[in-house]
Amino acid sequence: MITYEVELAVPETVDADLAGESRTIEVDEDEYVLAAARAADVWLPADCQQGWCTTCAAELLEGEVDHSAAKRYYDVDRRADLVLLCVAKPRSDLRVLTHQQEAMLDHRAANSLPPGRSKR
Ligand code: FES
Repeated sequence: MITYEVELAVPETVDADLAGESRTIEVDEDEYVLAAARAADVWLPADCQQGWCTTCAAELLEGEVDHSAAKRYYDVDRRADLVLLCVAKPRSDLRVLTHQQEAMLDHRAANSLPPGRSKR
């Protein structure tokens, strides 16, 4: 079993306990980043946990993830470095910027793609 280090950077602008801070957690290769974060007491936004709704979207700043379990994820999302943490398994050490649902929804709209189950 390979375990990777995943740095979760929380933007200053969000209403969250860790706003403006980063936490580094360990995530096994067969584990989803969101679940590993929650197990480490880092509570990130999520809803469907199936790679559908985009609530858990984040920006991948560094590294590679496996999204094969996502119900709705597009190649253009990957090229824009937007990831869904609920179905993202690490394939390297990662750095991610959390709380990026708005960016994901804007990106999907700009590419004429379905947004997922939007909350806005
Ligand atoms: S929680 Fe719905 S896509 Fe991740």
